Amino acid sequence: MSTTEQRVAIVTGAARGIGAATAVRLAAEGRAVAVLDLDEAACADTVEKITAAGGKALAVGCDVSDAAQVEAAVARVAAELGAPTVLVNNAGVLRDNLLFKMSDTDWDTVMNVHLRGAFLMSRACQKHMVDAKFGRIVNLSSSSALGNRGQANYAAAKAGLQGFTKTLAIELGKFGVTANAVAPGFIVTDMTAATAERVGMGFEEFQAAAATQIPVQRVGRPEDIANAIAFFTGEAAGFVSGQVMYVAGGPLN
Ligand SMILES: NC(=O)c1ccc[n+]([C@@H]2O[C@H](COP(=O)([O-])OP(=O)(O)OC[C@H]3O[C@@H](n4cnc5c(N)ncnc54)[C@H](O)[C@@H]3O)[C@@H](O)[C@H]2O)c1
Repeated sequence: MSTTEQRVAIVTGAARGIGAATAVRLAAEGRAVAVLDLDEAACADTVEKITAAGGKALAVGCDVSDAAQVEAAVARVAAELGAPTVLVNNAGVLRDNLLFKMSDTDWDTVMNVHLRGAFLMSRACQKHMVDAKFGRIVNLSSSSALGNRGQANYAAAKAGLQGFTKTLAIELGKFGVTANAVAPGFIVTDMTAATAERVGMGFEEFQAAAATQIPVQRVGRPEDIANAIAFFTGEAAGFVSGQVMYVAGGPLN
């Protein structure tokens, strides 16, 4: 494949938030983008934004934790847009609770969407990347990977994604495929709005409090994360692999 041909990207969880901003950004970079989320109809806004700007997009309904749905979705993308050689594993959920109150379902749901979902999507896409001798995989980790009260499930999944990313980088590097992780800090989306509600704070107040703890003194926007993902998925980033980039307005360990 020559680099003048349009590469096809899949962004999971792209109906809203970070995924939507990433889909729009990758389309602006010339990718044809599969906007994948649980509900195909919910992808319409993101697809509309991309096509209104002259880009190419396809709405795909798929639960990333379901192997059969993932296989079907990736096959559909390959048939309708072309071989997916850029994959952003962004779909995510929270089921926060302190350990003693965390249910089996809270644990399994978070593991299934983040870890199993990234595994299934990567496995389904890698054959297209290996055939093309080009691939870019970006997994969404989180600053919570370093540990966060009330998030034993989420922190474990997001730390797990870092090990998964490094292993993909090792296994797939010889096929021209890179794998990297972006670990956001506080980003303004429905996910952080739901957290504010859970802890009984107004979202504005919650953001203001978070901003005081961040060196750049502001909370992040979905576009801040899309910028980092655009770098890792770019044609020029072929020698950057197995890395975890914290995008959090300041350093994290
Ligand atoms: N917002 C933050 O501050 C923040 C910080 C660190 C990491 N992250 C991570 O970034 C990613 C995006 O977060 P966001 O804030 O945009 O979240 P969000 O809740 O706004 O959007 C997540 C999207 O994922 C979709 N989704 C959930 N389960 C799915 C499944 N099984 N299959 C397909 N799609 C599914 C949802 O429908 C939704 O559209 C997540 O992985 C999240 O953990 C977010």
